[in-house]
Parts: sequence; C-alpha cells; structure tokens
Amino acid sequence: MPEQSDQLQIPRHVAIVMDGNGRWARQRGRPRTFGHKVGSSKVHDIVEESKELGIEVLTLFAFSSENWKRPKSEVTFLMDLMIQMLKKEIRKLEEKGVQVRFIGQRELLPEKLLKVIRDSEARTRNNNALILQIAASYGGQWDITQAARSLAGKVARGELLPEQIDEQTFAAELAFSDLPDADLFIRTGGELRISNFMLWQAAYAEFYFTDVLWPDFTVDEYHNALRHFSKRQRRFGQTGEQVSG
Ligand code: FPP
Repeated sequence: MPEQSDQLQIPRHVAIVMDGNGRWARQRGRPRTFGHKVGSSKVHDIVEESKELGIEVLTLFAFSSENWKRPKSEVTFLMDLMIQMLKKEIRKLEEKGVQVRFIGQRELLPEKLLKVIRDSEARTRNNNALILQIAASYGGQWDITQAARSLAGKVARGELLPEQIDEQTFAAELAFSDLPDADLFIRTGGELRISNFMLWQAAYAEFYFTDVLWPDFTVDEYHNALRHFSKRQRRFGQTGEQVSG
C-alpha cells in the first residue's frame, strides 16, 4: 500500500462506471472487444486494492440495461467475458474473503452466466472482507421501477397503506438495500454523466470523473480518485459550519 493512503479518507462504498474500453481499442486499431478484454484484466487490481484499503463495498457497472442494444456479437462477448472472469477468479476471491454479488435484471441474463453467478454467490456468501457487487443488466430506472412494483403489490394485498410509503420503506425495496449508499462514484472515459447507474443510491455520492480510459485505469489512478474524495466536505444538506463545527 502506498504511503499516502495513510491520509486517505476511506469511503465505505465505491461505485465505478468502467467506460472507454471501445475507444481504447479503436485507438490501437483493434476491435472493441479487445478493449473489453484488456479492461476486464484491470478489475483484479482494483478489487485487491479496495480490500487492502478497507473499503466495504465496491460496485462495478459491467453491463447496463441499455447495453442490450449493442451489436449481438459484442453482447455475447461481454456475457462470455463475465463467465470467464468469474470462473478464473472465484477461487482467489473465495480465499481472500471477498463476497460476490450480482445486481440487475437477472431474468435477462443467459442461463450459463446465471449458473456461474449462483455458484459464485453461494461460495462467497459468508465472506466479509469486501463486498464486490457486479451490476449486470442493471439500470437505476429498472431498480426504482421494481421497487415501486413491489410496494404496489404490498398495497394491493393490504399489507401496506399508501401513507406508509416514505423514503425508508421505498429504499428497503431497492437492490442492495442492506448496504450503504455509494460514497464515491467514479467514471472513467471522459463522459460527464451517470448513464442510469445508481440513481437513488448515489444521491449523496461524491463524483470523480477522469478522462483516463478504463483499460488505462491503474491503482495510482484509483488513489487519485480517493485523494479527491478525501478533500471533499460532505454536508448532506447541512451548512459547512454545521458539519465542521
Ligand atoms: C464500457 O466501455 C464498458 C463496458 C460496457 C463493459 C465493461 C465490462 C468489463 C470491463 C468486464 C467486467 C467484468 C466483470 C465480471 C466485473 P465502452 O464499450 O462503452 O467504451 P467506449 O465508450 O469507448 O465505446
């Protein structure tokens, strides 16, 4: 661990949009899938460093609800890449105490990926060194919609009154409601947008955008993001004086 990490404020939950794989590959005259392959090899170091730093939850945006609109060959490649990565890494993740979870619209994922997901989650469910959440077929709008549907069902069955729906009851229906909201939201690849990732759970996240393309994102770049986070004053709606006083 580098020395400067001693002064870092460690966020409980880091969420990352790993953008820029396609452009990274194109810049090298290679197919977009090559960028995804190299990008996936960067995940290992970031997971390892998150665990070393004592981050509780790392959520990686691997495949969005909208990514289904990409060419079929790229979609298939990404599904297969997730399978390969999990198969390759699961033993080490298991040994290192990492708990693996998937969030997203599972019913859309191919059965062969679901099988590996179920196996990975079962094997690591009691681990608590780091929770690694992989968002696949995930969208913040999907999450909010499924929570609303679930609450509507409870109201229709007479289990809940509409007046009882508040921020807490709503949040309890969302994906990973048992985990803290995102503290630090990192997006690589130069775009300044959320792209439907964690619309609710990033309400008070600090944002860090970098032009670095995901395949070039190193542990040093990760430390840059954490240093920026450490300098921010998080006020959660209060005044600066209230927070520092
Ligand atoms: C965005 O780059 C990246 C993706 C849609 C896929 C990211 C997936 C991985 C790195 C694999 C991760 C796997 C696991 C199991 C965590 P882009 O294609 O949008 O790049 P562009 O903006 O340059 O076109």
